[in-house]
Amino acid sequence: MEFKVIFIMCFILFRKLVPVEMGEIQKMAANSPPFNGNSIPDGAVNKKLAANTPLFNGNATDGAVEENYNLDVENEYRSKTEELIAARSKYGSVNEMPYIELKNGQKMPVLAVGTALLEPKLIKHIIRAAIDLGYRAIDVAFIYGTERPVGEAIREKILDGTVRREDLFIMSKLWSTFHYPELVEKACRASLETMGLDYFDLYMIHNPMSFKEGGDPIPTIANVLQYSDYEYLDAWFAMEKLVHKGLVKGIGLSNFNSSQVSRVNEKGSIKPLVNQVECHPYLNQERLITFCKTYDVAISCFGTLGSPGTPVDYKSPGVKPVIGDPIITTMAAGMHITPAQMLIRYQLERGHNVVVKASSAAHLWENIQSLNCRLTQNEVEALHLLNKNKRNFSFIGMGDTHKNYPFKDSF
Ligand SMILES: NC(=O)c1ccc[n+]([C@@H]2O[C@H](COP(=O)([O-])OP(=O)(O)OC[C@H]3O[C@@H](n4cnc5c(N)ncnc54)[C@H](OP(=O)(O)O)[C@@H]3O)[C@@H](O)[C@H]2O)c1
Repeated sequence: MEFKVIFIMCFILFRKLVPVEMGEIQKMAANSPPFNGNSIPDGAVNKKLAANTPLFNGNATDGAVEENYNLDVENEYRSKTEELIAARSKYGSVNEMPYIELKNGQKMPVLAVGTALLEPKLIKHIIRAAIDLGYRAIDVAFIYGTERPVGEAIREKILDGTVRREDLFIMSKLWSTFHYPELVEKACRASLETMGLDYFDLYMIHNPMSFKEGGDPIPTIANVLQYSDYEYLDAWFAMEKLVHKGLVKGIGLSNFNSSQVSRVNEKGSIKPLVNQVECHPYLNQERLITFCKTYDVAISCFGTLGSPGTPVDYKSPGVKPVIGDPIITTMAAGMHITPAQMLIRYQLERGHNVVVKASSAAHLWENIQSLNCRLTQNEVEALHLLNKNKRNFSFIGMGDTHKNYPFKDSF
């Protein structure tokens, strides 16, 4: 089977099952001939994933088994929800989140909570708990289909006085069907409206491949992905205008290779602040990172733990989640920290922002505690040695024939 990037794959499959909700993006269509499609239904991506996770795909063969199974699922939701609601009283809160200073002076918290493929019933609880525990950055994207509940949770935490908007760093991403310049602002405004926000702290081009404009986020004809006549530089110039209009504080890239980073730097009048890329010891990205440093482009890492919750069918074959690597588990045990803390700390020692997804209060707390441990340079070097240049998210079948597919180049 073809291996597709997880969120897209989920979307394609689930789109067939879920009625599409009318949304802002559809309203955009009315004013914009090349764009006439559907919004992503809230939670659609997540629900499809849910169908593939052990929690949801019990092998019920008769009514009784199914009933017990549903009960187990409900009980698991209930206990997770209760733990998330009680997160701060159970664990406490990190008062000071360190940050990376971006070259425009913005302060980007080093740790961000991820929002792709979260279970819809838990999203708001997770985001509220994350803020209660001290997370101050949140990573969203149009294609995740989670903007609405994430935005609601953020607004609730602002309303109850836990944080002010300016304490938070909300980063989102422009999807590939919106690279046509006139669509960039519309897409950004639609995402802001869905989330109930006035601005994003960072808005990134989600990836460098440009898909055919229209209502379908994955536009295919006879299963062949359709590409746009525009490209990421067209989108970049339009992104610059978002900064001037105050819709976003900063702009950046995601999944861009070194020559693409360099091209945007050279052609853009506003230089990219960040490149968000998959990064963990099996794909340590040393060359890309060194290259980005020459342009003062900060790195935001995703897949830091090796994406253990992502179904194997959606990942590159043969790459096991790095969190289970015996060297990681042994080293971490020797240091009296957990493997997740070691993997997050590895990136923090390298000066990166880290996006980690977690759906329990225990994981959220464990991960934020990586702020309190240290790795020596020797330990960082030891982790570098695990590099295999193996990525989980290869975009095969999802833009790998596009002229701007980023992973043809070695870095
Ligand atoms: N820019 C892009 O193209 C791009 C692509 C992919 C992802 N992202 C962003 O990065 C985020 C994270 O990506 P990801 O989910 O692929 O990778 P990840 O953060 O490496 O893995 C998340 C998985 O790790 C588990 N986990 C979290 N904390 C743990 C702990 N302390 N111990 C053991 N397991 C733990 C989570 O389980 P539980 O849920 O059970 O806690 C979840 O299944 C996404 O949500 C998204 O925001 C961006």
